[in-house]
Amino acid sequence: MRKIPIAIFGNGLVALDLLSKITESPILECKIVFCRTKKPTFEKLAARHGVRMEYDLIHGFNKHAGDYEALFDCTSALAHRKYSPVFKNLDKLIINLTPEKAGHLCMPALNMQTLIDNRVKYFDMVSCGGQAGIPIIHAISEVDKDIEYAELFINATSESLGAGSRANIDEYIDTTEDGIRFFAKNRTLRAKAIATANNAKRNMRVTVYAEMSPNKIGEIRVSVDKMVKEVQKYVPGYKLLVEPLVEGDHIMVSLEIRGIGDFTPEFFGNVDIIARAAIQAAEKFFIANRNQRPPSSIQ
Ligand SMILES: NC(=O)c1ccc[n+]([C@@H]2O[C@H](COP(=O)([O-])OP(=O)(O)OC[C@H]3O[C@@H](n4cnc5c(N)ncnc54)[C@H](OP(=O)(O)O)[C@@H]3O)[C@@H](O)[C@H]2O)c1
Repeated sequence: MRKIPIAIFGNGLVALDLLSKITESPILECKIVFCRTKKPTFEKLAARHGVRMEYDLIHGFNKHAGDYEALFDCTSALAHRKYSPVFKNLDKLIINLTPEKAGHLCMPALNMQTLIDNRVKYFDMVSCGGQAGIPIIHAISEVDKDIEYAELFINATSESLGAGSRANIDEYIDTTEDGIRFFAKNRTLRAKAIATANNAKRNMRVTVYAEMSPNKIGEIRVSVDKMVKEVQKYVPGYKLLVEPLVEGDHIMVSLEIRGIGDFTPEFFGNVDIIARAAIQAAEKFFIANRNQRPPSSIQ
């Protein structure tokens, strides 16, 4: 089957990992990368796979619109805000890997089918911590719909955070907390995201705390186990580090995310999970729309 041509915006850490993973996709093929600075490692990988590099950001997205059917933005929240009006006019599938809220929140394990059924074409991938922890909060909320407080404590290696990541910490926290409330289906839930960086070469870790009745721990363990297996379908390095346990009036669950041998080190699990979630979302979208043009815009 013909692969779907896609474009990447940005040539930083996430973009590099995404490009290397897309070269292995049976569905997607990267044809063009839009960026503003030449970077030798990226240029080398792009050249090896016949990917065109385009440095004209003013006209480039429209000029080359015939060359791609999906655009993955790996820049920063600020850049996404600037270019989002251009993207909305392209009538392409937009996959936003920055924490800027411009489209519809997307968690492949949770709402892929709903987005497809509603013919949504603009996916916000929330954040790396969100992709790791929100499915678990959702699994807990399936057992207890009245959780009042949920928290994600996110820890990643500092080396894995490019300037784009560091520039949008406020948006990262805001969108992750919004994602917690949205996927727990509780707009009044008190949500907290805490992002920290370490100087070790250690895998990404995310600890989930939820305030709720400790009596339901058995059901929560079953629900969380099921969810971990769902996420592992597209993030093989995602694993339960500490199974749900009771700590006072909180349930605590700890996860570890290891990247799997692509272009970035294994301990960049945070880069790995966002790239894999974005690819999973695009692949599912195009499989659902196979043999027909992508539906026109509900954005
Ligand atoms: N690193 C992670 O673990 C991770 C995980 C999930 C999501 N994210 C999100 O992914 C995005 C990229 O993060 P990163 O760590 O890959 O950062 P990065 O290495 O600094 O890459 C950012 C890229 O965006 C480009 N860029 C920034 N502002 C731009 C603008 N105004 N116009 C055009 N290009 C612009 C940069 O170009 P120059 O190099 O020319 O400045 C660079 O190519 C961030 O929004 C981050 O929150 C990161």
